[in-house]
Amino acid sequence: MKIGKVKIPGNILLAPMSNVTNLPFRLMCRKYGASMTYSEMISSDAVIYENAKTFNRGKSSRDERPFGIQVFGNSPQVVAEAALKIEEAYHPDIIDLNCGCPAKLLTKDGFGSALLRSPELIHSIINELSETVSTPVTAKIRVLEDTEKTLEIARLIENAGASALTVHGRTRQQQYSGKSDMEYAKRIKQELSIPVIANGDVVDESSAERILEYTGCDGIMIGRAAMGNPFLFKRISYYLDTGEILEFEECAQRVTDLREYFKLLEDHELMHTINVKAHAQWFTRGIRNGRHIRNRIAEARDADEMLLHVEEMCGHEQP
Ligand SMILES: Cc1cc2nc3c(=O)[nH]c(=O)nc-3n(C[C@H](O)[C@H](O)[C@H](O)COP(=O)(O)O)c2cc1C
Repeated sequence: MKIGKVKIPGNILLAPMSNVTNLPFRLMCRKYGASMTYSEMISSDAVIYENAKTFNRGKSSRDERPFGIQVFGNSPQVVAEAALKIEEAYHPDIIDLNCGCPAKLLTKDGFGSALLRSPELIHSIINELSETVSTPVTAKIRVLEDTEKTLEIARLIENAGASALTVHGRTRQQQYSGKSDMEYAKRIKQELSIPVIANGDVVDESSAERILEYTGCDGIMIGRAAMGNPFLFKRISYYLDTGEILEFEECAQRVTDLREYFKLLEDHELMHTINVKAHAQWFTRGIRNGRHIRNRIAEARDADEMLLHVEEMCGHEQP
């Protein structure tokens, strides 16, 4: 798939996730085959007001190409100015506009999914962005109950100059409940000429294959199922390439991955910036005995102790 001038080496993307997709985590997803990764969302206002902590979220590394930076905001001028600063500082391959986040913290100020109420404003922001930066601009939306109105927004986004569109098939009101309705991504793909990426509920090999086939989309984007499980990208890409299920030791893999993740966090001096317990606990999800280990992680004093508990997890897994 090509997004504007950028060649994406595959069709499985890592979703932007606030407080999750930091650089070390993204590097692990890349290593395992994610075709493209996005930063956590960055407030355009914070960029303009030089909030260093937020701005630093845009940092990447040579091993993470192509990568996208996601911004949120609702003023065409502010978003474009912020994007220009981001472009100059970090040279991302793509700049994505968040039109999907349902969190009150954003929607109360008219950001994220609140933009879906003002399609013309989305058009103006994308238009201003595309005219200001030379980096390809993309957007990520949730859907409206009204399919035609959703299609109209998708068309406006394309006409405003976007180079790709990601569609999460849930409404803002649904938050994360119910199912992501893939009918929307399918219809939008049929209408648009830019690449369309389907998002929502890709959790394993079969859901990845089913959603790609059903929607006809150019790619799929994976969010929650990758939390604590970057190896999922390896499993899915192996399956899509060969039609075979990859055999591996799930529990041992999680331990290896948590060890590497902690090392990368240390190397990038980011350990102190995240909720280490939550991140470690994600690596135990879906593992037998995981609940017990999560309780022990909750009581651990530091990352080394957490790792020791997770290392015990597989011993208990033997039948
Ligand atoms: C913890 C968390 C943080 C998220 N942060 C963002 C974000 O910063 N920007 C964004 O566009 N979507 C964000 N999302 C939504 C995901 O990108 C994705 O659209 C959603 O989780 C549906 O995909 P999934 O079913 O694969 O998880 C977030 C989701 C979660 C669970």
